[in-house]
Amino acid sequence: MAPPLHVLVLAAGEGRRLRGAVPKVLTPLWGRPAVCWPVAAARALAPQRLVVVAGEHLPAIERALAGQGVSFAQQASPLGTGHAVLSAEAALAGVRGVLVILYGDCPLVRPQLLQALLELHHQRGGGLSVLSMQVQDPTGYGRVLRDADGGVIGIVEQSDATPEQRAVREVNAGVWALDLPEAWADLRRLGSSNQQGEVYLTDLVGLRVAAGRPVHALCWDEPSDVLGFNDQTQLAEVRELLRRRLLAEHLSRGVEIVDPATTYIDADVSIEPGARILPCTMIEGRVSIAGGCEVGPFAHLREGTVLQAGAKVGNFSETKASVLGPGVKVNHLSYVGDAQVGAGTNIGAGTITANYDGKLKHKTHIGERAFIGSGTVLVAPCSVGDDALTGAGAVVTRHASVGAGEVWVGVPARLHQRRGSNKEPTV
Ligand code: UD1
Ligand code: MG
Repeated sequence: MAPPLHVLVLAAGEGRRLRGAVPKVLTPLWGRPAVCWPVAAARALAPQRLVVVAGEHLPAIERALAGQGVSFAQQASPLGTGHAVLSAEAALAGVRGVLVILYGDCPLVRPQLLQALLELHHQRGGGLSVLSMQVQDPTGYGRVLRDADGGVIGIVEQSDATPEQRAVREVNAGVWALDLPEAWADLRRLGSSNQQGEVYLTDLVGLRVAAGRPVHALCWDEPSDVLGFNDQTQLAEVRELLRRRLLAEHLSRGVEIVDPATTYIDADVSIEPGARILPCTMIEGRVSIAGGCEVGPFAHLREGTVLQAGAKVGNFSETKASVLGPGVKVNHLSYVGDAQVGAGTNIGAGTITANYDGKLKHKTHIGERAFIGSGTVLVAPCSVGDDALTGAGAVVTRHASVGAGEVWVGVPARLHQRRGSNKEPTV
């Protein structure tokens, strides 16, 4: 029987090379902070313990991972990856089994890859295993050193590497498996006499080899599963790979995406098969789109948008925190925010829900089969009843309530007449 499994994610680094507006591991990647990605891969393995090491941004990282079964350890100052692992010693006190270590800046990591490393680790009798990869450009990565027989003998970081070592293109991918509790003694022996003065986890390899103990390496042939990001160029590359991966999942389930090159869909978006996503479209946050819906071209759906069967959001339209009932159309140049729109309603070109009064957001309720004339401004809170109609350019003011079947026109909008029995617009 396999020994108990635990995972440690290192997220206490400063991310100085990135120079980002937020701490590196909290960089948003398709709606989720970067550290959430390796944590999600780890959770797929159902580990007994899942610990994240964080530094000065611990409170923000705790918030980002709340409710995900994660416990936390704090690294007082970022003295290196080896030191980060040691910072979790108290959190993992008494724990036995295999510890998988992941880096918080490697969001592409997949559960299959972790499983493959664990298999190798078990097959070779445990101890220490590391994942490597062959890359075109090894800049910034630790280089994997092998002896004449191909055995791994060490990992040397870029700043400590000789020119010959820098030419090596097999690099440390930053995924580890090691046996606990035996590893703690070796971790405590790691020094910091290197260019950066840091305690490197990578030095564990040389230390084990020097003691005549084996280190196993699995060379993963798909770098796009493990690339990390230390600077903005690598971040852009990682973001693009994740974007393509998310789109591939939707496509494989039968969602039509006309132009993947210009479609941006966050990780927490759910789309039913049979929906069509047209070019130049961005779908952000938690959004759900039913079958038969059409989104785009040039549409922007934001957090809390729900499109029910057959709803359409077209050119230059934006939605947020709104439920669009079955068959609702928002085809042109509109903003629909904090709104509830009933089945079959048509929102005319240029309609705006003025949901923000400078301090608070307010709701707009629109019933079923309503017809909102072009250029209507709905100043929330306000409501429009079933089968009602607003004339082009109407301004429905705060607290106004357009009754079912009524026609309102003008600025401010006033009752004009009842809507004709044929239910067609009359103004
Ligand atoms: C590290 C590896 C390198 C590997 C690369 C893969 C070491 C010494 N180097 O380099 O061999 O090729 O990842 O992507 O391990 N962290 C802490 N505390 C610290 C320092 C770092 O928690 O004191 C965390 C960071 O938040 C980050 C991860 O550890 O998530 C890796 O640190 P980073 O500085 O990005 O290491 P690299 O230079 O990329
Ligand atoms: Mg890194």
